[in-house]
Amino acid sequence: MNRHLVSAADLSRDDTVLILDTAAELASVADRPIKKLPTLRGRTVVNLFYEDSTRTRTSFEAAAKRLSADVINFSAKGSSVAKGESLKDTALTLEAMGSDAIVVRHPASGAPRRLADWVSGRVINAGDGTHEHPTQALLDAFTIRQRLVPGADRRGKGLDGIRVTIVGDVLHSRVARSNVLLLDTLGAEVTVVAPPTLMPWAIESWPCKSSYDLDAELRKTDVVMMLRVQQERMSAAFFPTVREYRRRYGLDTGRMALLPEHAIVMHPGPMNRGVEIAAEVADSPRSTIVAQVANGVTVRMAVLYLMLGGATEETA
Ligand code: CP
Repeated sequence: MNRHLVSAADLSRDDTVLILDTAAELASVADRPIKKLPTLRGRTVVNLFYEDSTRTRTSFEAAAKRLSADVINFSAKGSSVAKGESLKDTALTLEAMGSDAIVVRHPASGAPRRLADWVSGRVINAGDGTHEHPTQALLDAFTIRQRLVPGADRRGKGLDGIRVTIVGDVLHSRVARSNVLLLDTLGAEVTVVAPPTLMPWAIESWPCKSSYDLDAELRKTDVVMMLRVQQERMSAAFFPTVREYRRRYGLDTGRMALLPEHAIVMHPGPMNRGVEIAAEVADSPRSTIVAQVANGVTVRMAVLYLMLGGATEETA
């Protein structure tokens, strides 16, 4: 594996399958009365968050603590960042306090890559602007494999031939970009569906198909992954009204009925209930949204374990 995890493109198929297999092994820890392994005792993980987060920050914290690492949670709000301190100086300050890995979320695309040039520890991208969110893609791949790849032992397996449709605000979505890259690496067939205004202009260069017709795609997919409409990143009007967006690209119970019987519904969260996804769909038995959150902890445990050099026998 690479020294840092900045992009899903940093991961080969073997790397990715190793992470998924390790996560599957570590998942049993969550079922134990004492959910801890001594693997990363003495290591320090810094959560360096310049942007809001519920799932990613707390799941990295839970993952690090379950592996017995020390965790420092840094939020730009209330720190010397407000006095003008740069990302580089903040990171070097935290590294001087003994951090071994920095988990960074930043509104600027490319910030984790720059950070990786400045620090000697590991850097893990927890979401940078509209660029990438590789651990979200890993937990999504883990969830798809868990639900759709048959057999109790899925070890060593990718997602060959599984059809995934990613729907919505692809233009602003780091989740979509990382998922397209990682799912392609694992052998899935990916289609992105978006209104023309929310389709990236260079979509032809992505390893996926694209479409504007959601209903046609739903009939032939195994997974539909709904994306949040990111109003906070929209500097212009990308669609006439929320009602119009919902009518063309929202997943309601009527549309969900178009899916094959075995198909699952995913969303990375946070959701805009009633916009891209109806509440009845989000809460339906087909929805894997809560499972995705739970899998986020085990997948992030696997990433920390592999990147910080845990010994294989200690997972047993
Ligand atoms: N999916 C995701 O990244 O959620 P948070 O913004 O809550 O971390």
